[in-house]
Amino acid sequence: MKAIRLLEYGGQLVLNDVPAPTIARDEILVKTKSTAVNHLDLVKASGAARQILPIELPWIPGHEFSGVVEQIGSDVAAWAPGDAVFGANGIGGAYAEYLAVKPAAIARKPSNLSFEEAASVPVAAETAWQGIFTHGHVEKGQTILIHGGAGAVGAYAVQLASHAGATVIATARGDDEAYLNSIGASRVIDYREAQFEKVLREKVDVVFDLIGGDTQKRSFLVLKEGGLLVSATQPVSQEEAARHRVSGAMMRLDPSADGLGSIARLLGEGTIRPDVATVYALRDAAQGWKDIAGNLPGVHGMSPSGPGGPGPARRRAHGKIVLRVA
Ligand SMILES: NC(=O)c1ccc[n+]([C@@H]2O[C@H](COP(=O)([O-])OP(=O)(O)OC[C@H]3O[C@@H](n4cnc5c(N)ncnc54)[C@H](OP(=O)(O)O)[C@@H]3O)[C@@H](O)[C@H]2O)c1
Repeated sequence: MKAIRLLEYGGQLVLNDVPAPTIARDEILVKTKSTAVNHLDLVKASGAARQILPIELPWIPGHEFSGVVEQIGSDVAAWAPGDAVFGANGIGGAYAEYLAVKPAAIARKPSNLSFEEAASVPVAAETAWQGIFTHGHVEKGQTILIHGGAGAVGAYAVQLASHAGATVIATARGDDEAYLNSIGASRVIDYREAQFEKVLREKVDVVFDLIGGDTQKRSFLVLKEGGLLVSATQPVSQEEAARHRVSGAMMRLDPSADGLGSIARLLGEGTIRPDVATVYALRDAAQGWKDIAGNLPGVHGMSPSGPGGPGPARRRAHGKIVLRVA
């Protein structure tokens, strides 16, 4: 099968012919239609986080996918060849024509989504779901501040929190204000124009931090006593949390078929929607990585302009970068 592989940490992505995976009794072979690009791919490939996010080289990137069930293991009852699915795993392998997965990684693809749209959903939407509900316990009537609301994860967080009946405030680039209002944010603070802690009139119940650094530090100032800081980017200082009488924790995506099934239902009924910015062919995966590298300076040897490219990074529109495999 054709697959994009990384041969060494920090190396180029290469398109190779490699053997298709074989499945264990409790696994499913998926014929991949599309996959998508995530920060996690670049971070793992750089080797910068190899102690906590190790990979086995050569490595096939890609933590999310859409496709069709090709073959099932003898212990798999719930799926049949021909089923259209989408899903995520924690290990990669989706930049390839075939992928072996556990049933817990997949859900039925909503029929109103194309395979390209479906591949863009699982990592971002499941991270948002777990940040908002599993860790943030967001409820109707609460106010939540979402940092990076126009990003891949942020846009689902805005939609899910708003659907749950919370008042949603998002920090983002001013250009993204209309988009964020259209998906449920009642207020957008332009992070380049204003410091959110200076312009917020009321304190919030929950902060979902998709930015980290100074943004996370300043978030303690806007939480109500007893409030909750959920970070998807870095550990939360427990000293700072105690000092401000709030709680805080970092979350890590734990892909789950149940969570993805709930997301699939909301997508199917049109309550939430995917956002695909660009679709590339699988062979152009490196271009997809270059497009998101601006948000990850220093990772995978990339400058904000991407490898080999002088000048400022192109402003990427909101939405995911998808790779068409078949
Ligand atoms: N813990 C986990 O399991 C997990 C899972 C998935 C993702 N993540 C992490 O979550 C973060 C977000 O991921 P993503 O895929 O949503 O990234 P993304 O699509 O690149 O979105 C980031 C967004 O933040 C905006 N932004 C940049 N600086 C900002 C600031 N100071 N204040 C507010 N917004 C700002 C960017 O807009 P501009 O156009 O202005 O740059 C962009 O819209 C990443 O750090 C990723 O690694 C963690």
